[in-house]
Amino acid sequence: MDDVRRWRVPGRVNLIGEHLDHNGGAVLPIAIDRSLLVKARGRTDGIVNVWSRGERASFPVDVSPDDVTDWSAYVAGAVWALRAAGGDVTGADLVLESDLPVGAGLSSSAALTCGVVLALDDLAGIDRPREETARIAQAAENDFVGTPTGLMDQYAVLLAQEGHAVRVDFSAPEPSVEHVPVDWADAGLVLAVIDTGAHHQLAAGEYAERRRECAEVATALGLESLASIGLDGLLSLQDETLKARARHVLTETTRVRGAVTSLRRRDWAQFGAMLTSSHESLRDDFAVSCEELDVAVDAALASGALGARMTGAGFGGSAIALIAPDKVDALRARLEAAHAARSWPDPEVFTVRPSPGAARLA
Ligand code: GLA
Repeated sequence: MDDVRRWRVPGRVNLIGEHLDHNGGAVLPIAIDRSLLVKARGRTDGIVNVWSRGERASFPVDVSPDDVTDWSAYVAGAVWALRAAGGDVTGADLVLESDLPVGAGLSSSAALTCGVVLALDDLAGIDRPREETARIAQAAENDFVGTPTGLMDQYAVLLAQEGHAVRVDFSAPEPSVEHVPVDWADAGLVLAVIDTGAHHQLAAGEYAERRRECAEVATALGLESLASIGLDGLLSLQDETLKARARHVLTETTRVRGAVTSLRRRDWAQFGAMLTSSHESLRDDFAVSCEELDVAVDAALASGALGARMTGAGFGGSAIALIAPDKVDALRARLEAAHAARSWPDPEVFTVRPSPGAARLA
């Protein structure tokens, strides 16, 4: 009998709504057709073994934060968080296979933590709501690995539907989800991902710093979360840095609304303009872009993209561009030349389709 459970979990790109999940706003990611496959077989001896990219790690199911600090911390964190949520984990052999680049800002970590929780629940015969799985996976990242991320990535990779973006609204304690059809392919367009290859060390510290800055403004204005800020609140701010952060949150919230409307109207010029405007706001006001991402966006626009922006937390990782397929080669060539001129490693440029969220394979 085949007692191996197989779960395929996609990566994601966020179309728009950046740094809004931790500010109580709405985000609009898609799951992509690059994914992680988790193969899991149960054990009864309380040991978890995991194999990935030719390496192996092992730890006991009662692992604690600080026990594991290498690449397998996300797996150990998922085991730890699942047990903390009452999950029944008796041990497992896990084999990971992936065509989702790690460190590219495409949520390989959410795919991993969600995939491990899904596979271990499956071995235990548990079928829990995806929203609960998302929170467990988030706890693995926040409380075990120690990265203070929001819930967008987990919702995207667990709840997305094929051919749709998933609008997740974090304004209430229980996020609400709406699936928005994405059919730029009918208009002869593709979404290109540009993996810049940059991974700046700043990322984790600056993410936490942005969260702190946003929380400070919200508290000063007496708001539950910053996404509900209005123009009056913005104009009342004296500190220029905090004002810029708040301006990003306010304008990005408006852009998410505009992007959903333009998706529904199939107004690709307008949708593209939202993407580019979002990038400018992340670069100038939220200050989470970097030279590699700015070069990627400039190259995409110069190659005829309707719009382009960084996606994800920032400080490296990937940009996205809405572009005609026959312009992708020119974009790649332009970008490779730009990277070569700066002695940066080659970027990766590939197209992605709005794909389904995590699924169990037969
Ligand atoms: C990372 C985090 C998400 C979100 C984005 C920025 O991907 O994991 O929760 O905050 O950054 O939008």
